[in-house]
Amino acid sequence: MKRISAILITGASSGLGAGLAKNYAAPGVYLVLTARDAVRLEATAMACRALGATVVTGLFDVREAEPFGTWLIERDLERPLDLVIAAAGVSAGTGEGDRPEGIELAAMQVQANLLGTIHTVEPLLPRMIARKAGHVAVIASTAALRGLPYSPAYSASKAGIRAYGEGLRALLGPQGVMVTVVVPGFFDTPMTDRWKGPTPFMLSLDKMVAAVRKGLDARRARIIVPRLLALGSQAADLMPAAIGDRIMRGFRFRIEPGR
Ligand SMILES: NC(=O)c1ccc[n+]([C@@H]2O[C@H](COP(=O)([O-])OP(=O)(O)OC[C@H]3O[C@@H](n4cnc5c(N)ncnc54)[C@H](OP(=O)(O)O)[C@@H]3O)[C@@H](O)[C@H]2O)c1
Repeated sequence: MKRISAILITGASSGLGAGLAKNYAAPGVYLVLTARDAVRLEATAMACRALGATVVTGLFDVREAEPFGTWLIERDLERPLDLVIAAAGVSAGTGEGDRPEGIELAAMQVQANLLGTIHTVEPLLPRMIARKAGHVAVIASTAALRGLPYSPAYSASKAGIRAYGEGLRALLGPQGVMVTVVVPGFFDTPMTDRWKGPTPFMLSLDKMVAAVRKGLDARRARIIVPRLLALGSQAADLMPAAIGDRIMRGFRFRIEPGR
C-alpha cells in the first residue's frame, strides 16, 4: 500500500485534529493544517515540526467556501494530498429551561459541521478522482445515529455528515477514492470540557486518536468508537419513538458557551 505522506487536517488547533496531526507527524510527512485560532494552530504546527514533519498552515473559517476552496486546490497542486481529515467542528446546546438552540446557534452548527465538511472535501474531489487516489475522512458522531434532545441541531449536522460520507463512499469507491466515516462517542477535549452532564464511555483523547489512526491505516469504511455507545444509540433509534425519547431524555446535559 502507498505510504501516506501528504495530509490535510482541519480543526488542527485543538482536540482530535491537533491530536491526529501530532500522531501523523514524522520525517517525510507533509501536513496541511487549518483552523481559525492562529496561536493554537501554530502550537500544533510547532509540535509537528519538532517531530520532523513539514507543515503548512492556513487560517480559515470552514463555514466560508471561498477563499478556503481555492487555497486547498493550491496546496493539492503543490503536493497531491493522500489523506483529507475534516475534523473541524463545534457543538452548542439547548438553553436554560430546555429552550431550543434557536436559529443562530442551530445554523452555526450546521454551517461549521456539515457545510464546513463539504467545503473541505468537495474542492479536492475532482483532482483525487482524476488521479484515482486519495482518502477522505469525515467526522460524524454517535449523535448522528439518534438525535440528542439537548443538542438537536448538532445531531442534525452530524447525521448530515454521516449521510454525506456514506453516499460519497459508494460513489467514489469505484473511482479509486476511499471515504471513511468516523463515528466517535465522547472523548476528552476542550469541546467535552464544556459538556456538563453524563458522558458515558468517555475516552481519553489519546485513545480516540489511536483508534481513528488505526482505522484509517486499515482504510476502514467506518470507524465506530466506542461500539457500545453506538449500539445504544442505534437501539434507541429502533425502539418505538416515545420509549427512545424517554431514554434519551435521561441523558440530560448542558453545553456551556464556546470560545
Ligand atoms: N469531543 C467529543 O466527545 C466528540 C464526539 C463526537 C464527535 N466529535 C467531533 O470531533 C471533531 C473534533 O472535536 P474536538 O472534540 O476535538 O473539538 P475541539 O477541541 O473544540 O476542536 C474543534 C476544532 O475545530 C475547529 N473549528 C471549529 N469551528 C471552526 C470553523 N468555523 N472554522 C474552522 N475551524 C473550526 C477549532 O479551531 P478554531 O477554534 O481555531 O477555529 C478546533 O481546532 C468535531 O467535528 C466534533 O464534532 C467530538
